[in-house]
Amino acid sequence: MQPIADLDVLPDAVAPVSSAPDTAGTLDLPRPVAGRGGTNGRAVYIETYGCQMNVADSELVASILSGAGYAIASDEMDADVVLLNTCAIREKAEDRVRGRLTHVRARKERQAAEGGAALQIGVLGCMAERLRSKLLEQERLVDLVVGPDAYRDLPRLLAESEATGQAAVNVQLSREETYADLAPVRLDSNGVSAFVSIMRGCDNMCAFCVVPFTRGRERSRPVASILSEVGQLVDAGYKEVTVLGQNVNSYRVDQGGAPVDFAELLYRISLLSPELRIRYSTSHPKDCSDELLHVHRERPTVCDFIHLPVQHGNTDVLARMRRTYTREHYLDLVERARAIVPGVSLSTDIIAGFCGETDAEHADTLSLMEAVRYDHAFTFAYSERPDTYAARKYADDVPDSVKRARLSEIVALQREHALASHTARVGREEVVLVEGTSKRSDAQLRGRTDTSHMVVFDRPAGLERGDYAVVRVDDCTSATLLGTFVRKTTLAAETAPPVAVGGVA
Ligand code: SAH
Ligand code: SF4
Ligand code: F3S
Repeated sequence: MQPIADLDVLPDAVAPVSSAPDTAGTLDLPRPVAGRGGTNGRAVYIETYGCQMNVADSELVASILSGAGYAIASDEMDADVVLLNTCAIREKAEDRVRGRLTHVRARKERQAAEGGAALQIGVLGCMAERLRSKLLEQERLVDLVVGPDAYRDLPRLLAESEATGQAAVNVQLSREETYADLAPVRLDSNGVSAFVSIMRGCDNMCAFCVVPFTRGRERSRPVASILSEVGQLVDAGYKEVTVLGQNVNSYRVDQGGAPVDFAELLYRISLLSPELRIRYSTSHPKDCSDELLHVHRERPTVCDFIHLPVQHGNTDVLARMRRTYTREHYLDLVERARAIVPGVSLSTDIIAGFCGETDAEHADTLSLMEAVRYDHAFTFAYSERPDTYAARKYADDVPDSVKRARLSEIVALQREHALASHTARVGREEVVLVEGTSKRSDAQLRGRTDTSHMVVFDRPAGLERGDYAVVRVDDCTSATLLGTFVRKTTLAAETAPPVAVGGVA
């Protein structure tokens, strides 16, 4: 996750992510086959935009297509099929995809002119679902438009469009599909952390948001299939899972009359391994129960980090946004979270310049940020999305220049808070899960604390990706902690309750 979104970047986005085969994973999870030509002689390249859910979905798409005989190409130039798994959350997200499509289409035309093999181009995900067949009118030469609930149909659609030369479309949304039985092919993986999708869709209908339209109704995946997937990841040496859903903490299934909610599910996942860190994204404040907070408190491997998007600091704006809580409810929740989970780290999403936002209302967002002091924030200028409640009922009346100015104030304040939170950690020892080498230098490693702070430190001999290390924090910026390696460790050793010496139990 990015610590601070400077401007209009996607939450948690690692986009675009390409379908580079996982060379880091260890054991026998399904792996993409690199290079050209699977058993059906064709190779597919998948490029992912948007949120973590899309990254997880691309891994399902890779699984479905590997099963149908396609190879998964890590280089676009080796592929016969290029699939863009898209995002529709803001206009900018769609613009990026249109830009990419222009590029891929040019290659298709060039190849056709040279008499080469026909390239198939597919648009998957939220933009496919939002625009449906309109996308075919707007984007000539797209062969495939497939929505997020129709991926099982991909092999048939690809074969059909190859045979007929016509575009194939399936944008049917489902009330049941959770892809529960599929083993995702881990793409671009570091072999240390993985996403596990546990619910799909969203029933909340926040006024600004396109997701309920692109992802359909909420549905939760059966417990057994989640535990089995996480179990396989543990066996394969993974050390961290992030369980995913559009409104992840509204997870709920009925198991023969016994309901399992999100708190119970996390508890059960945490019993699988003492070495597996557990995170989740994205939660809605309305579903952040005391039971859930107690799971954070009681289970040492459930990270003390909660992404708790507030969206705005003013109660009237929250009502216009249809967020179902007030400023006061939210601040109460933050107080409860901090009382039950001491030291919990909080992050948020904030929208600047929503319909009708006044200067005074914007000032309430800044004052809420002061009251909470988030560790991270993803911040966005409001972007009107067609068909949403806000697009139908309100005027998008805050001028762009004002949206940008307000966003800059939010970003600047967040940077101060992040720096202060980092500075307060200088001198402390933190348990870090090593994710890989630092982006700047191979001589340094990078990893995260339980509270999701990024730490960079000089690589000692014998410490590898996937190891836990105690690191002393010496210095910081607003984005990163800089530290010194103290010792290699295990999570179990660091989280065991203190042993009473000579005392009364
Ligand atoms: N399901 C998640 C968020 C999904 S979208 C949740 O409810 O928290 C991620 C973030 O994008 C949202 O939290 C919101 O801050 C932002 N966002 C959504 N729609 C937007 C829009 N129309 N304009 C600007 N930002 C938007
Ligand atoms: Fe969108 Fe609201 Fe659902 Fe989040 S909770 S996905 S912001 S509708
Ligand atoms: Fe984008 Fe769809 Fe995710 S709109 S943020 S890819 S759910």
